[in-house]
Amino acid sequence: MCGIIGVTSTEPVAPKLADGVRRLEYRGYDSVGLATLDGGAIGIRKGVGKVDEVDAQLDFAAAAGNTGIAHCRWGTHGGITHNNAHPHLSPNGKVAIVHNGIIENYLALKQDLQANGHAFASETDTEVIAHLIELELEHGGTLKDAVHRASKQLVGSYALGVLSADEPGTLVATRNESPLVIGFGDREHLIASDVAAILTHTDTVVYLDNHEVAVLTAESCAIYDDGGFAIDKQREKIDWDMEAAEKGGFEHFMLKEIHEQPGKLADTISPRLRDHEVVFEAETGVTAEVLRGIDRVIFLACGTSWHAAMVGEFLFEELAKTPAEVEYASEFRYRNAPIPPGTLVVAMSQSGETADTNAALEEAVRRGTRTLAVCNVRGSTMTRIAHHTVYTHAGPEIGVASTKAFTTQIAALYLLNIAMAQAKGVLNQQQIDSMIQGLRQAPLQVEQILDQNDTIQKIAKHFTSRSNAIYLGRGVHFPIALEGALKLKEISYIHAEGYPAAEMKHGPIALIDKQMPVVVIAPTDKLTYQKTLGNIEEVKARDGVVIAIATEGDQTIAQLADHTIYIPESLYSIGPLLSVIPLQLLSYHVAELRGCDVDKPRNLSKVVTVE
Ligand code: M6R
Repeated sequence: MCGIIGVTSTEPVAPKLADGVRRLEYRGYDSVGLATLDGGAIGIRKGVGKVDEVDAQLDFAAAAGNTGIAHCRWGTHGGITHNNAHPHLSPNGKVAIVHNGIIENYLALKQDLQANGHAFASETDTEVIAHLIELELEHGGTLKDAVHRASKQLVGSYALGVLSADEPGTLVATRNESPLVIGFGDREHLIASDVAAILTHTDTVVYLDNHEVAVLTAESCAIYDDGGFAIDKQREKIDWDMEAAEKGGFEHFMLKEIHEQPGKLADTISPRLRDHEVVFEAETGVTAEVLRGIDRVIFLACGTSWHAAMVGEFLFEELAKTPAEVEYASEFRYRNAPIPPGTLVVAMSQSGETADTNAALEEAVRRGTRTLAVCNVRGSTMTRIAHHTVYTHAGPEIGVASTKAFTTQIAALYLLNIAMAQAKGVLNQQQIDSMIQGLRQAPLQVEQILDQNDTIQKIAKHFTSRSNAIYLGRGVHFPIALEGALKLKEISYIHAEGYPAAEMKHGPIALIDKQMPVVVIAPTDKLTYQKTLGNIEEVKARDGVVIAIATEGDQTIAQLADHTIYIPESLYSIGPLLSVIPLQLLSYHVAELRGCDVDKPRNLSKVVTVE
């Protein structure tokens, strides 16, 4: 939540700051601002609203100076006001700061400062840091020393970009728990919450670790550890291309990302598949011996990643014959849940920066169990905590509503299951081959579903004036019912709930009347299909409007349901990769028809770096 960017260069930086903060906007869009250092003077332009709105009033790109910082805010402390917008200044106006995170002890620090005569211009926790840095500068040393000493007084999470009017050309950055990447440009250095913000200027980065301090000028980058010693850090090349972070002709990032899924699934699946096996070992360090030693899997995740984990739970039990359970990361970390020997803890995250998931993962590491991250962002905090990482190759996901990250997570889990089933010898080669074959077909099948976009858009019209919706699914499709409901509510603001289909009779059926759309995921299968048909009958008997997701060619369901969207026939276990696609498109079109801001839904942030 919140995005920060900073640049120090041989040329004016305001255009780069404005462009970068626009790219980071998915992290927060309550207010936006920048500070530039022009000679010995700090100039600030900031305001309430989205980047385009504030930029239209203040003309960010016109700010003078070769060094600067910028910020987009998702408010935590204090209302959505001009004064609470970043950057914040120290009392003498000589230090400017942008911050992503939460300072937990800010109130105590603020009271101490107030007792010593400090007056505050904002209600934020961040302003306290600016005051502390100014005080530390009075005690002597450079801006770097002052930032380091001030950060020692902070409890909580922070990524900071700091300027001082007394050190023109210098940008100082540090972090604890909130992400911060340093980019190496052409006679310039950059900092950002996320590589996507700086990809146009560099593909070479260093990830700052907790408590490290970076001192950047246009020509130099020095990084110090917590003890103040200069350190050398490995530079990494980012293989995401810039186009991946643009809309590419689509109206919204979400729609583009939905349509990217065939390619991104292929990118995630193909390099790991051989004719009769999955090859993971060199990339992840997960050997067959490691897989054989795993008796239990505990998933940790939040939001959509939690739904992917629920699909994973089903896959581990069904395919790898290994008990699995799914925990909300935010709950797990505050419980003393037993982690028996032989447990693999799998943390799932698109961003790799979700505070609760990373804290829960750290707890698992602390308790000595083997951990694995399934993550989309190379070098993110999560991948540096876990013992092993399986990357999803979804590319940058900018739309706040997660789509391609979800399906590539499921594909990664499926690969892991094939590898584990093979290592444990719990499935025969024919079964393994048919799973490999099924997975290979999935990208093309997703493509076929996307071709029904127009049909789905027409169905979406029936939702636009509704206030509620119910999503039903059974077995491996129950998590998809949850995911479909989450997609609808987060971007269209229609209240929606997902249930296992059989649970409907235990309460939710009371809600059904002719105003209630009920989305039923009912692909043909031997186990539950007939029962789900029964649930559709029950909804129709109460005048509910049924939208069925059915297997191609199923005429029975088409006669019962008001609207039917077909998905190709697949292995049951691969079904979620397909059944979720029409639900993503449905929620997209409903939100679009209702005039909602699809990529930046209200109150949300793409990356939840606070608990
Ligand atoms: O980056 P993560 O996968 O850890 O994010 C977890 C959730 O915040 C995220 O999935 C959220 O629920 C999305 N808005 C869902 O579309």
